[in-house]
Amino acid sequence: MENFTYAIGTRSYFGEGQIKNLGRNIRQYCARVLLVYGQGSIKRNGVYDAVIEELGKSGINFAELPGIEPNAKLPDVIEGVRLCRLHQVGGVLAVGGGSVLDCAKTIAGCVAYEGDPWDLISMQVRYTKFLPIFTVLTLAAAGSEMDALAVISDMNRHDKLITGSNMMLPKVSILDPTYTFTVPPKHTAAGSADIFSHICEPYFTVDESAYVSDRIAEALLKTVIHYAPAAMDDPTDYEARANLMWASSLAVNTLTAKGKDIGWSVHEIEHTISAYYDDVTHGVGLAVLTPVWMEYVLSEKTLPRFVTFGLNVWGIDAALPPIEIARLSIEKTRRFFSSLGLPETLRKAGVSEDKYFDEMAVKAYGPEGRANSFMPFSAEDVRNILQKSF
Ligand code: NZQ
Ligand code: ZN
Repeated sequence: MENFTYAIGTRSYFGEGQIKNLGRNIRQYCARVLLVYGQGSIKRNGVYDAVIEELGKSGINFAELPGIEPNAKLPDVIEGVRLCRLHQVGGVLAVGGGSVLDCAKTIAGCVAYEGDPWDLISMQVRYTKFLPIFTVLTLAAAGSEMDALAVISDMNRHDKLITGSNMMLPKVSILDPTYTFTVPPKHTAAGSADIFSHICEPYFTVDESAYVSDRIAEALLKTVIHYAPAAMDDPTDYEARANLMWASSLAVNTLTAKGKDIGWSVHEIEHTISAYYDDVTHGVGLAVLTPVWMEYVLSEKTLPRFVTFGLNVWGIDAALPPIEIARLSIEKTRRFFSSLGLPETLRKAGVSEDKYFDEMAVKAYGPEGRANSFMPFSAEDVRNILQKSF
C-alpha cells in the first residue's frame, strides 16, 4: 500500500431538511453570494424557493447566474466571473447537478485572475485564490459536491477538460435526497453509471495491496447495483435516493483511491465524446464505453482483478474458470447498464458519425498516449475503443 494524504475539507449536511444549515454556514464566510443554477429544474421542484428562504433568514444577499447548461461551458464561467466582480460577492453558491457545481467552482477560482480563464482551466496557470464555494446538490452523479475538481467544456476548441485545485473543495455541501426525487429516469440512470465508473476507475489496478480501498469500492459498487433500479422504479424511494447520493460523494472524493497507484481511463475517452457531441450525457457515454474498455483491457495480467470484481461485486460462482468469471463480470456490467435503459452503442447514445474518432483519440491522452500500470494507452487504443463502441 502506497503513502497518501487524506483531508476532505467539505462539511456535508446529509438528509432531509438539512437546508436549514445553509445560511448560518455561509454567514461564517460572507454576506453576499453569486447563486448559480441550471435550466429551471430547481424552480419547478421547489428547491429554489427553499434556498431563497434560507438565505433570507440569514440575511444573505445574492446575485443570480441561471441557465447553466449540462456539461458546463466556458462562456458561463466568464459571465459568472463578471457577475462576481460586478456585485462584489464574497462566495459562490451552486444549486444543481454536477454541471452547475463545476461551473460555480470554476467561477470561484477565476475571479481573482485577470487573464483568460481558460489559462486556469487548462492548468497552464495555477489557481492562486478561490472564493468560498457552497453547494446544494440536486442530482447524485458527478461527486462534485465533495471533490476538488471541475469539468469545463469549450465547444469551439472541442475541449472538455478536468481542472482542479485543493482550494476548489466546497466549504459546505447540503445533501438532501428528497431534492433528487424529481430527477428524470434518464438522468437517474446516467448518474448511476457515472458513480459506478468513478468507483471502477481507481478500482481496476494490478496492485491488490490497498485492501481497505478496494473493499470500500466494492461496497459502493454494490450500493449502486442495488439502489439504482429501486430509484428508477420509484423516484421517491428515500432509501434508494439517499444511498445513491452518499455513494456519489464517496465515489470520487479519493477515498477509494487511497494507497493505490491509479490512472483513470474511461473518463478521458468519454470527455472527448462530449466535447464533440454536446447532446451525449456524460453518464450515458460512460455506460457505453465501460464494458467495451473492460473487454479491451482483459489480459493475462489484468485477469486477477476482473476475477476479484466478478466474485466480490457480482457474486459469480468461484468454481468457474477465472477467464469465465472475468467475461461474465463484464457481461453483467453491460446488462446492468442496459437494465437501466442506457444504450449499448455510441450511435444510440447520439454520436451520429465516426469521422472525428482520429481527432478524439489523440485528444483523450495526447498523441503519446498515457502510461497506466493496469494497461498503457496509446491514441490507437483509444481509437479502437471508440470504434468498437460505435
Ligand atoms: O439544468 P437543470 O434544470 O438543473 O436540469 C438538470 C440537467 O438537465 C437536470 N437535473 C438536475 N437535478 C435535477 C434535475 N432535473 C430534475 N430534478 C432535479 N433534482 O439533470 C440534467 C443533467 O444535469 P447535470 O448537472 O449536467 O448532470 P450531472 O450531475 O451528471 O453532471 C454532469 C457534469 O459533471 C461532470 C461531467 O463531465 C458533466 O459535465 N463531471 C464532473 C466531475 C467532478 N466535478 O468531479 C466528475 C465527473 O466524472 C463528471 O465528469
Ligand atoms: Zn464522471
